[in-house]
Amino acid sequence: MQTEYRQRREQLMAKIGSGTAIFRSAPTAVMHNDVEYVYRQDSDFFYLTGFNEAQAVAVLAPHHAEHRFILFVQPKDREKEVWSGYRCGIEAAKEIYGADEAYPIAELNEKLPQYLEKSDRIYYHLGRDRTFNDTILKHYQNLLRTYPKRGTGPIAIADTSTILHSQRLHKSKTELDLMRKAADIAVEAHNHAMQITAPGRYEYEIQAEIEHIFRLRGGMGPAYPSIVAAGKNACVLHYIENNCQMQENELLLIDAGCAYGYYNSDITRTFPVGGKFTAEQKALYEIVLESQKQAISEVKPGNAFNAPHNKAVRILTEGLVELGILKGEIDKLIEEEKYKPFYMHRTSHWLGLDVHDVGVYQHGENPQILQPGQVLTIEPGLYIVPDTKPAEDQPEIDPRWIGIGIRIEDDVLVTSDGNEVLTAGVPKEINDVER
Ligand code: GLY
Ligand code: MN
Ligand code: MN
Repeated sequence: MQTEYRQRREQLMAKIGSGTAIFRSAPTAVMHNDVEYVYRQDSDFFYLTGFNEAQAVAVLAPHHAEHRFILFVQPKDREKEVWSGYRCGIEAAKEIYGADEAYPIAELNEKLPQYLEKSDRIYYHLGRDRTFNDTILKHYQNLLRTYPKRGTGPIAIADTSTILHSQRLHKSKTELDLMRKAADIAVEAHNHAMQITAPGRYEYEIQAEIEHIFRLRGGMGPAYPSIVAAGKNACVLHYIENNCQMQENELLLIDAGCAYGYYNSDITRTFPVGGKFTAEQKALYEIVLESQKQAISEVKPGNAFNAPHNKAVRILTEGLVELGILKGEIDKLIEEEKYKPFYMHRTSHWLGLDVHDVGVYQHGENPQILQPGQVLTIEPGLYIVPDTKPAEDQPEIDPRWIGIGIRIEDDVLVTSDGNEVLTAGVPKEINDVER
């Protein structure tokens, strides 16, 4: 694994030439008083180092004569480690994580300038951590002030994100293995959830059993707060209260993914609590399912990132017209976004170390083109949100549709000749989700 982290650093260093890149570990977060949330490393930092401790800084200085990869970390401290856990320390930062040089984080201000003064720019993502931004700006200003003495030094701060994030967009075999595992665990959890759902049970019971499987299989836990939404709760896109009792004639929407080895899955299924769809639920479900399958078939190299979304929107709009929920000519309804009260989100996002993973979706006028090794979700839905006011030229919504919310979401890898659905193990055909 260390070889892969090194290759990732080499790939980035080849692009930054005589610049110096600086990465800050994620901050810790307080849960309450003196209790902290479980620590989760910043994804860029982890991608380049595999190092998962707080209070660390990684520096890449490809032009430096001796040290190209430098880590600043918390030094070993027996007493502190007894309370808050193992620290890798200075020596292991070199031995295990492959740093050419490592220092205590307290020496950052003293040691950092030597890695900046011969670089032509600082690559750093301003914005996340104000105090640390100030630290970097202070170094930058000092080096600018003293530039005439040396005739070298950074004359710009450039954001690292665009370079690094286009690198992160293409998943390696190692990354895909972890993503498959994250997907497999979530597949098992969703299948189990379908089996145990029954009228009278509570949404949180289902959440508990899903998350039990995540940890039981060695996952880090949920990739995001699990959504277990019965009936009209499914019309709230990020419903996470999960505290209602499920009723016979409701649908249950479960949007839950697992984090495994820092990589994520993201799956949604919607199925009848009591085992059988009502006529209205089935009519809407068929539309979402068809849109999802057709959107997936648009995932192939050479297609625009937006192709699956455009396909999904067309099928959803046609379906809404067929059911009389929308009225008018399809192209015009799409152009005027008349579907938006019922489908208000996008069909896809990148997936990886972040659930909404990094990487651009559009290059100015030109669309991002899908390429092998990218992973994206396909997640169309329809939500007949209570109290929706139809547009002036649109019909009143027949009450029989109101409160139905449906989403179907899979994780899809772009392959050399099409795609592979990583989460295909959870059923979605009507016959398979009815019991
Ligand atoms: N669960 C978050 C999403 O589907 O984007
Ligand atoms: Mn998603
Ligand atoms: Mn989701």
